[in-house]
Amino acid sequence: LQSQDQNTYRIGGVVVKNKGKIRPLVPFAIHTKASTLLDDPEIDTIVEAIDDSEAAFEIAKYALLSGKNVISANKKMIATYLRDLIALQQQAQGRLKYEASVAGSIPIIQLLNGYLAQEPVELLRGILNGTSNFILTKIFNDSMDYQRALRQAQKLGFAESDPSSDVSGRDTWYKTKILLHEAYGLEISLDQIFYYGIDTLGSDDIQYAKSKGKRIKLIAHIIQKSGSIAAWVMPQFVDASDPLFHIDNEYNSIEIESSNLGKQHFTGKGAGALPTAVALHGDLTSLNREKPIARALSYQALSPEEIKLEVYIRDKQILDRSIIPFIKVREGYLDDRFHYLIGEVRLSDLLNLKSWLSSRSCGVIATGRYHVNEAAQLKSVKRVEMELAL
Ligand SMILES: NC(=O)c1ccc[n+]([C@@H]2O[C@H](COP(=O)([O-])OP(=O)(O)OC[C@H]3O[C@@H](n4cnc5c(N)ncnc54)[C@H](OP(=O)(O)O)[C@@H]3O)[C@@H](O)[C@H]2O)c1
Repeated sequence: LQSQDQNTYRIGGVVVKNKGKIRPLVPFAIHTKASTLLDDPEIDTIVEAIDDSEAAFEIAKYALLSGKNVISANKKMIATYLRDLIALQQQAQGRLKYEASVAGSIPIIQLLNGYLAQEPVELLRGILNGTSNFILTKIFNDSMDYQRALRQAQKLGFAESDPSSDVSGRDTWYKTKILLHEAYGLEISLDQIFYYGIDTLGSDDIQYAKSKGKRIKLIAHIIQKSGSIAAWVMPQFVDASDPLFHIDNEYNSIEIESSNLGKQHFTGKGAGALPTAVALHGDLTSLNREKPIARALSYQALSPEEIKLEVYIRDKQILDRSIIPFIKVREGYLDDRFHYLIGEVRLSDLLNLKSWLSSRSCGVIATGRYHVNEAAQLKSVKRVEMELAL
């Protein structure tokens, strides 16, 4: 990593897992026991970028309790243990930073916690997984098949060691939970955020998108209406008028919309060793500069029953409408190979149907249309008015 950093910190050592592994020479001591660094009183900051979220949490917990700072790239660990980690940070002196855990080179966490901290963001949506986007780009732009595109992503180092997290949508799901916290200070449990991946997409789904002049992108969606928030992660049809249509390969892109600022777009490399290293390094250099900002606004989670999404659902057989409770169907097609319907479904029904849809390898793709129950919005407005009156 080339850098202009003039800071005076010293790297005390590196911890790895496998002692015998052949690796490039580094000018630091290499250890295999995290305790070597965790118990060293000279070390005040632990940078954690390992692929085991449970081991990472133990390391982060121990470090924070010992008053050390923790910088992490591990979105699964942060999303799963966010509440515990924040409590640990408050209890001890150390600080926790995790810019590298979301959207690689886009400094989205700094942005949401700094410049946008008092801005009531109405929409935050984006492509947050470089591997899935790389695969979809190869499928749509180069007519490559799914397996070959995945192998290429792994060869180039974009895919995680276990790519199932990328392609199943789980990686984007973890990042969405982190963004909910960064943008709104809100902790929504993972099981309240619907996610679906690109791993069940079939050639019929791709053909359908192409026939309409669209591409499919894996998109995280967070909406805020009158103080109430909802989020989901799903493949979505996008056409050329959508800026996300043009985001290719391992790039990530985030769109933020608010009434004061209109739309803003942030694009950058979402995966790979160097963008991740730059984000970790950025956290390190900002440790002593920033103090956390207290938000003036407060938000609440919207019940998933209050949100209706228009989705394309495809199965190999006739879709059973007594199982999938479409509120309205706009389009459908049936032949001897597959059946799809496009219509409105409640987000709560999608959450309940998630395992059923995945087990049948159904394609599930959002059209980008959704609406929020008016009554739920009015309730939220009343709540905000009451808060202001207090
Ligand atoms: N790759 C990316 O583009 C990217 C981007 C953003 C965030 N991240 C996050 O960064 C983390 C690492 O991802 P990666 O792709 O770099 O994985 P990776 O290539 O598999 O590297 C994982 C490293 O962690 C070490 N390790 C595993 N368990 C350990 C333990 N218990 N104690 C000490 N060291 C341990 C491994 O040691 P050995 O070398 O001895 O096996 C290896 O060096 C993950 O949380 C991932 O989500 C990755």
